[in-house]
Amino acid sequence: MNKPFVIAIDGPAASGKGSLAKRLAKELEFDFLDTGALYRRIALHTLESGIDPSNTEAVIEAAQNFGDELAKDYDDSALRNDGVGNAASIVAQIPEIRQILFNFQQNFAKNSEKGAVLDGRDIATVICPDADLKLFITASTEKRAERRHKELQSRGLDATYEAVLAEMQERDERDNVRLKDHMDPNVDNHTIDTSEMNPDDVFQRALDFYKSSSR
Ligand code: DC
Repeated sequence: MNKPFVIAIDGPAASGKGSLAKRLAKELEFDFLDTGALYRRIALHTLESGIDPSNTEAVIEAAQNFGDELAKDYDDSALRNDGVGNAASIVAQIPEIRQILFNFQQNFAKNSEKGAVLDGRDIATVICPDADLKLFITASTEKRAERRHKELQSRGLDATYEAVLAEMQERDERDNVRLKDHMDPNVDNHTIDTSEMNPDDVFQRALDFYKSSSR
């Protein structure tokens, strides 16, 4: 059996990496894993159990009994809300939580049939360092806040651009401190800055990288 082709896509919040990853997986008929959603699932489970996300010991205990739930289908809107996103960025700082998810993510990539696309923060460096294609998707903080703001508005949610920008900066800071050794935009030099690009152009650029790297 051939080894599956693995595409690792990393980048900061709201850079467009999630939509790109999904579209690439669909185009190539690969399996797709949104790894941020795994941290969000643990965060949601923690919140629903009445546990404070910064209570490290309680979070670890809850997550240890949560293993099988990770693969279940979730109500996406519950996972996507900003409270859960913030809690996710707090629980993601706990090494034991990262270890629990490490195995899940590696197995997903290894056991995919044709290939797998994983998007997150540390896929190319920690989870799948041997990935066949590594992409880093980024955009300026202002652009990312602008997109997130529009998305919230389209969902009928009320938030000012300034508040979204401030939250984005806070989240970036937390993610960057923790992931400074893992998030590496220069890995393989396949960086796409989407600040001034539309989603179709980003997709085409990624597809070109894929074509020139596929075996
Ligand atoms: O991409 P996202 O917003 O759904 O991710 C939620 C949080 O999970 C984010 O603050 C960073 C964290 N995360 C991580 O630490 N490692 C990953 N591979 C994916 C997400």
